[in-house]
Amino acid sequence: MKKNCVVGIIPGDGIGRDVIRAARIVLDLIDQRCGDINFEYRDMEVGEASVEKHGVAFADVTREGIEECDVVLFGAIGAPHDFVVLSGIRYGFNLFANVRPIRAFPGVDVIHPDADIVVIRENTEGLYRGIGYSDKDYHVNLRVFTQAGMERIIHFSFDWAQKNNRKKVTFTHKESILLHTDAVMKKLFYKIAVEYPAIEAEDMEIDACAMRVVIKPETLDVIIAENANGDILSDVGGGIIGGLGFTPSANIGKNLAVFEPVHGSAPKYADKDVVNPTATLMATKLMFDYLDRGDIATLLQQSISDVLLEGKIRTYDIGGDSSTSEFASAVAGQMDATWNDCIKT
Ligand code: IPM
Ligand code: MN
Repeated sequence: MKKNCVVGIIPGDGIGRDVIRAARIVLDLIDQRCGDINFEYRDMEVGEASVEKHGVAFADVTREGIEECDVVLFGAIGAPHDFVVLSGIRYGFNLFANVRPIRAFPGVDVIHPDADIVVIRENTEGLYRGIGYSDKDYHVNLRVFTQAGMERIIHFSFDWAQKNNRKKVTFTHKESILLHTDAVMKKLFYKIAVEYPAIEAEDMEIDACAMRVVIKPETLDVIIAENANGDILSDVGGGIIGGLGFTPSANIGKNLAVFEPVHGSAPKYADKDVVNPTATLMATKLMFDYLDRGDIATLLQQSISDVLLEGKIRTYDIGGDSSTSEFASAVAGQMDATWNDCIKT
């Protein structure tokens, strides 16, 4: 009997619509070819489309819809709804780990073709928790770490490194200044690292690590970063592998995972069918990894790689003039052509 898998589909704002349309082209092909999973898609709105339909950017009906999903594919969200929507999803469902792989595709002209880094951004605490106050001339945002929050992201990072055959985990910090958060967490990091003797543990100041990403990415592997630091570091990483058109992410919690590109909603390109959907297609790849379908994930990544390497169909950001949907269709076509060689069912 076919396994049922409920996939929430949330385009969001701006180019979120374009990249999710592209992902649907690939998902439809997978749906058609995959013999043992029955995909059920649930379309939901957030952001502007939700304001029009439900009066708010993140509605209760969307929250309830997400609760019923096994996984969710999400496009992008822009101002002014970004905090409401992203906190509704990331904090609301306790998706504490934001996994952001930084890896170049062959054939794309980038600063560091050999970079292969994974930023694991703590996704629910830190500076972006949004706690603070203003009092006369005092304006405060608190950087909050909890014991449970620190432990779970450190464990997650080592577990993820282990499962994905990575060799090293780097904890980033500014311990000399942030005595109550980073200094405490660094101790905990090394305490937990002992449980993973096969994986090297090191620490690095966050500013030094940002420079290292730019000049010597080959010396980095898996990086743990506080929420705001991870946000910045993953964009720096995107910069060395061709930009945010290539940077996917997985927001992972205990019972749910939401997959999205790292980029924002880029309103000026919205609905023009021109942006690069690779980040979203790679987020879809991460979704199949999460669903324990490494075979489909690998085929999808290989097909993206083949299309990019062939170079005939490219979006404007990498020197071509193909559309978003042409690129996605080429990837789907490549998957279709090689499906029987790679997938058993
Ligand atoms: C990201 C984005 C968001 C974030 C913004 C839109 C709030 O930059 O996912 O990286 O900072 O988390
Ligand atoms: Mn960001």
